[in-house]
Amino acid sequence: MSKLKLKNLSKSFKEKNIINDISFDVESGDFMVLVGPSGSGKSTILRLIAGLENPDSGLIEINGKSVTSFPPKDRDIAMVFQNYALYPHMSIYENLAFPLKMRKENNETIKKSVHEVAELLGISKHLMSKPKELSGGERQRVALGRAIIRKPQLFLMDEPLSNLDAKLRTQMRAELLKLHKSLGSTVIYVTHDQIEALTMGNKIAVLNNGSIQHLGKPKDVYDKPNNSFVAGFVGSPPMNFFEFKLIDSQTINMQGKTFKLKSQNLKLNPSSSFKLGIRPEYIKVGEVDKIGEIMFEASVDLIEMLGNEHVVYATSIDFAVNSSVAIKVIGDFDLKQNSKIKLSFDFSNAHIFDSISGDRI
Ligand SMILES: Nc1ncnc2c1ncn2[C@@H]1O[C@H](COP(=O)(O)OP(=O)(O)OP(=O)(O)O)[C@@H](O)[C@H]1O
Ligand SMILES: [Mg+2]
Repeated sequence: MSKLKLKNLSKSFKEKNIINDISFDVESGDFMVLVGPSGSGKSTILRLIAGLENPDSGLIEINGKSVTSFPPKDRDIAMVFQNYALYPHMSIYENLAFPLKMRKENNETIKKSVHEVAELLGISKHLMSKPKELSGGERQRVALGRAIIRKPQLFLMDEPLSNLDAKLRTQMRAELLKLHKSLGSTVIYVTHDQIEALTMGNKIAVLNNGSIQHLGKPKDVYDKPNNSFVAGFVGSPPMNFFEFKLIDSQTINMQGKTFKLKSQNLKLNPSSSFKLGIRPEYIKVGEVDKIGEIMFEASVDLIEMLGNEHVVYATSIDFAVNSSVAIKVIGDFDLKQNSKIKLSFDFSNAHIFDSISGDRI
């Protein structure tokens, strides 16, 4: 099985830095997810690993050996793309057999491998069909099959599920993870969907503007985001942010309103400004009797029903500088649009970031 190391990779296109000094390790058997907004450089990183682009500087190692200057065919990597890239004129059998034919395997071996892979992916009954006769999910499985059949050291997957409808996507996520487990393969998986990243990866790298903002286990990235970009990108609905300054170690001024904090002894620079981040699930709706919590009033803009959970979008009304806020409410409740509500949260559940650099404090 295989290990991958990227060391200080950089790449620019037309003098614009697209990948800035990226380093990370992928251990054998990892399911590593690269997640970030559109244009953040995710596909470029995969293309560099596959050898479809050359870095301006930096190293790529597989199992301790530099492959930086190797052509794609010598890297033993299989890539699965968003648009399947199947050959339309070939049958599913021929599509699956193609990589082995290229390798000049004998017909018996090819036949055996195609049937094994088709069985594994549940597409055996489609072997004689053409790609256009298959559903999106089935085609995606063929594309995966074509990658698996080569038994590569490393799989690179670039948004392989984004063409599928929501239900099929959820199903294929689970199938991919099962497959990953049974093959014991090493996968680098690209998505711009942070939920996919949190649920699929054992490690995730959050990218922005070609730099890694946070690399870690999904839970750590969610619970202790490195900076306000990661905090705002990972989580749905996104984390709420409020600007604040310190008055003294137990008092803050948040968007023009003063709050006395209970059992806090803040050691922050009084001349700096900060961003407070609070996840929607930590904001409570209604009166609270605990003094010292951050409490404010808001007006309800919109309520989204998601089964037994509601997301309430509201706008604060008693700050000097008001802002929108999202709250997650589990179970029944009786709020209506435009109703006034009291919201509160514990300061201990908040994240604090430097207002200027965005770094976690
Ligand atoms: N061959 C190229 N020539 C010039 N610019 C490029 C080239 N390839 C990528 N770029 C630029 O590099 C940036 C990163 O592109 P990349 O495709 O890696 O983003 P991405 O994170 O995969 O985005 P998406 O989520 O939209 O797929 C973009 O601004 C893109 O325009
Ligand atoms: Mg891309």
